[in-house]
Amino acid sequence: MIRDAARDFAQTELLPGVIERDNDQKFPAGAVKKMGELGFLGMMTDPAYNGGGMDTLSYVLAMEEISKIDASASVIMSVNNSLVCWGLETYGNEEQKQKYLTRLASGEIIGAFCLSEPEAGSDATSQRTTAIDQGDYYLLNGTKNWITNGNSASIYLVMAQTHVSKGHRGINCLIVEKDMDGFIVGKKEDKLGIRGSDTHSLMFTDVKVPKENRIGEEGFGFKFAMKTLSGGRIGIAAQALGIASGALELASKYATERKAFGKSISQHQAIAFKLADMATKIEAARLLVMKAAWLKDQGQNYDKASAMAKLYASEVAMEATVEAVQIHGGYGFVKEYHVERLMRDAKITQIYEGTSEIQRIVIARAVLDEASAIA
Ligand code: CAA
Repeated sequence: MIRDAARDFAQTELLPGVIERDNDQKFPAGAVKKMGELGFLGMMTDPAYNGGGMDTLSYVLAMEEISKIDASASVIMSVNNSLVCWGLETYGNEEQKQKYLTRLASGEIIGAFCLSEPEAGSDATSQRTTAIDQGDYYLLNGTKNWITNGNSASIYLVMAQTHVSKGHRGINCLIVEKDMDGFIVGKKEDKLGIRGSDTHSLMFTDVKVPKENRIGEEGFGFKFAMKTLSGGRIGIAAQALGIASGALELASKYATERKAFGKSISQHQAIAFKLADMATKIEAARLLVMKAAWLKDQGQNYDKASAMAKLYASEVAMEATVEAVQIHGGYGFVKEYHVERLMRDAKITQIYEGTSEIQRIVIARAVLDEASAIA
């Protein structure tokens, strides 16, 4: 039912205008509002905080369907669900949940997750943004880069260094409101893909953030970011899966309709084998995504599983969309047929919420830990 509802929503609300929004870099404000009303923006949040109370498996089913049509809408959804709402629900205190989570989970407002900086992308412990303890508040200074929902968000979870000498154990996560004095939304990025989502730099100059807006204990900010990203990667893996399976659906349909050398191109082995390889890899990616979601729902460790799901699904998304363009031939190279957009959208899934190289680091460390535990 959840998959059908998401598919129906994507077909009726997201498909119309998706090419124009990509072209014009237009944020899908109307569709995001409807996503909130339908419960897609706080799917896993407890109903006590206006969420849908669903499991991670339901969330990835919805993410896949929405990503087939509009990966810009699905990254907005993913960040709000798995980074902002999940992070606040799991590690925030009751006052923070009442004040912020209730509005974020209902989709009344959306949130952003602010870890990356001009000089701290993969090397996330090297935070230059500072949050100096001033008694009742932190004085926040610095710049964040490539922030999804950068302008459309109302609430920002900002990682910042409080005690440089403590390294990553001196980092805090602060809840910053958009209208706090000294907070400026910087330039909007002109991107290769997911052009409907708004990605901005953010500048903080002497922003006074009340102490009660810190999430968790003093110095918990980096752990907060890592734990939250581990679940976020399941969402992005589901996004990549959706982009790939969307490309397969379009390529299969086109291959059946298009004729060359007296028969449909799907009857030519060169094309049929491409479809077979795409379908097989997509199915393998789907199983990895579902396993990671299932482990999370079971309360088991999912760090390695989510990294594997994101690594594999994003590589499959890139491969499948390139093949989908190839199957479409000249038509694949023009916007009307959607596959060129899917190919451009696929690329970011190998980069954000940890590049493919970072996922390999996480996986390798887990594999070596398991090996040393056996030894
Ligand atoms: N859960 C809990 N703690 C974790 C953790 C996890 N999954 N992973 C690491 N940590 C902890 C470690 O235990 C360590 O703490 P202690 O020293 O207290 O034990 C601390 O974090 C630092 O870890 P490392 O020593 O492993 O640090 P490192 O620098 O060697 O590597 C890294 C860490 C895994 C490479 C990390 O920096 C990383 O994940 N980088 C990628 C960052 C990223 O994903 N950015 C995405 C930006 S957000 C985004 O894209 C959102 C969007 O808009 C779509």
